[in-house]
Amino acid sequence: MRKILVVNSKGGCGKTTIATNLAVALASRGDEVALADADRQKSSLSWSKRRPKHLASVEGLNWTKVEAIGSKTKKLDAVVIDGPGGLRSELARTLIAEASDIVVPVLPSAFDWDATLKFLDGISEIKRVRKGKSEIHLVANRINRSSTQVAELEKRLAKRGYPVLCRISDRVLYARHAAEGSGIFDFRDARTSDVRTQWHPLLQVVD
Ligand SMILES: Nc1ncnc2c1ncn2[C@@H]1O[C@H](COP(=O)(O)OP(=O)(O)OP(=O)(O)O)[C@@H](O)[C@H]1O
Ligand SMILES: [Mg+2]
Repeated sequence: MRKILVVNSKGGCGKTTIATNLAVALASRGDEVALADADRQKSSLSWSKRRPKHLASVEGLNWTKVEAIGSKTKKLDAVVIDGPGGLRSELARTLIAEASDIVVPVLPSAFDWDATLKFLDGISEIKRVRKGKSEIHLVANRINRSSTQVAELEKRLAKRGYPVLCRISDRVLYARHAAEGSGIFDFRDARTSDVRTQWHPLLQVVD
C-alpha cells in the first residue's frame, strides 16, 4: 500500500486541497483509497463527511493521534494523508518516516519560500528520507498569470536540490469542490481538462 503524505509547516498552502483531490484522482480510477486526516483542524475529515455517496468512495480516517496511524488500511491500495502542521511532533515524524511519497505544496510567495526550504531541510534530516526510501514531490500551488515570482521560486528550490514537479493553477473550482465533498477528478468535462492535466506529473510519480 502506498502512503502519500501531503505536508508543509506553512499554513494555507493547499495541503487539504491537494490531499482531497489526489485521493479523488486515485479513487476515480478504481483504486481503494482512504483519506487520513492528521491535522487537528480535521478539514479532510469534514470533507469526507460531505462527500456524496454516488461518487467514488474515499473513506475518511482520523489519524490525529499517533496511535491511530495505520488503522483501517488493510485492503487499501493507497492512503493519502493530510499532514500535521509542524515537524517536531511524534505524529509528524512517524508519518514522514513511514510515507512512500511526501508531497509538499508551496505558494508562489516570497514569504513561503524560506519557511518551505527550512521545512524541506527538516524532512531531509529524518532518517528514512535520507536513505532515499521516500521521495519528496514539490507542488507549486495557486499559480496565476500575475504570479511573477514562480520562476524565482522554482530557481531557488531547484538550486537547493528540490525541483518543482507540478504546477497547479489558482482556480475557484477548487473551493467549490471543497465545499461539496468532491474533487476535480470526479467530473471529466472537457471545459476543465486543462486543470486535470496539470496533475499528471504528480499522478505519474505516485502510481
Ligand atoms: N489551486 C487553488 N486554487 C484556488 N484556491 C485554492 C487552491 N489551493 C487552495 N486554495 C484555497 O486556499 C485556501 C487554503 O487551502 P487549503 O485549506 O487546502 O490549505 P491548507 O494548507 O490545508 O491550510 P491549513 O494550513 O489551514 O490546513 C482554501 O480556501 C482553498 O480553497
Ligand atoms: Mg488543511
